[in-house]
Amino acid sequence: MSLQVRIEQHGGPEVMQLLDAPELAPGPGEVRIAQQAIGLNFIDTYQRSGLYPIALPSGLGQEAAGVIAAVGAGVTQFRIGDRVAYAGGAPGAYAAQRTMPVDRLVQLPDGVPAEVAAALLLKGMTAYYLLHQTVVIKAGDRLLVHAAAGGVGSVLVPWAKSLGAEVIGTVGSEQKAAHAQRYGCDTVIIYGQQEVAAEVRRVTGGKGVDVVYDSVGKDTFAGSLDSLRPRGLLVSYGNASGKPPAIDPGTLMQKGSLFLTRPMLAHYIATRAELETAAAAFFQVIADGIVKPEIGQRYALDEVQLAHRELEARATRGASVMLV
Ligand SMILES: NC(=O)c1ccc[n+]([C@@H]2O[C@H](COP(=O)([O-])OP(=O)(O)OC[C@H]3O[C@@H](n4cnc5c(N)ncnc54)[C@H](OP(=O)(O)O)[C@@H]3O)[C@@H](O)[C@H]2O)c1
Repeated sequence: MSLQVRIEQHGGPEVMQLLDAPELAPGPGEVRIAQQAIGLNFIDTYQRSGLYPIALPSGLGQEAAGVIAAVGAGVTQFRIGDRVAYAGGAPGAYAAQRTMPVDRLVQLPDGVPAEVAAALLLKGMTAYYLLHQTVVIKAGDRLLVHAAAGGVGSVLVPWAKSLGAEVIGTVGSEQKAAHAQRYGCDTVIIYGQQEVAAEVRRVTGGKGVDVVYDSVGKDTFAGSLDSLRPRGLLVSYGNASGKPPAIDPGTLMQKGSLFLTRPMLAHYIATRAELETAAAAFFQVIADGIVKPEIGQRYALDEVQLAHRELEARATRGASVMLV
């Protein structure tokens, strides 16, 4: 038997129940992973609450790392004992053991501990595509990064700095401002205390930024549009405060022929080659010391409700993991 988190219905953190389930034998093309660490991502809260509806009953969780404990028929590229991680796919990572198709697994480099991969692989591959594919960031670009002290922010900000960008970050508190500065932000705005677009105009001499990375959504969307230079790009990639409002395309014209995109990691790592490229790029920025992996919170699997409460209450900084 093996512990896993299940939900029968959408709702608050209390709908997550830790159950004992039978250990499944891996099917053809699958392996069973003895998981050591499980990543917590804001998307898990959307799938739990129903903001992103999923078929119920269901497991939860997008990413984890551990050791291969059993191998199914036809698997040749991985062996028992290999250290692996995954990010994305069907929810169900909140578990002590998990069977997974091998085409979604990546090998862990020796220098990357399981808890680092579990906490940061999804966030790291997200930072990769946001900075290198959604738009190609180059030296001198000015960026506004919302939730700069959060999990994705803790990777996106130092990576953007290494490309020569100037980074303005937003955070919810003075304490988080110190973390955002440590991650490399040139300027930090505390939204709630300061008006974001006005501050951005002040800092950029009235010009506005080239790109806004907005994962907060509802509360920041309008200010993000107003922070852009003419023909700037708004990358709306999350909804931590709720879904952004619907927008009339004419608004983009009025505010300076702006561009708007709403990307999602799954569409950038759809093929095996894309997955391997994104994971390798992330492991490389760790190896190069550009991203210094940091885990802000560690929980036990049976503290999953507490972990979600803290994530949704904005009480976390950087990345969070559950240890098995
Ligand atoms: N599209 C994609 O491919 C993709 C992939 C990964 C993640 N994401 C998105 O990226 C964002 C960050 O994910 P993460 O897992 O690293 O989470 P996170 O940034 O660690 O946590 C979310 C942060 O958002 C900020 N926030 C602002 N208003 C909030 C509100 N009303 N309620 C809760 N939080 C609020 C908080 O920081 P402050 O207290 O500083 O405001 C909070 O810590 C999420 O929106 C997630 O959905 C998108």
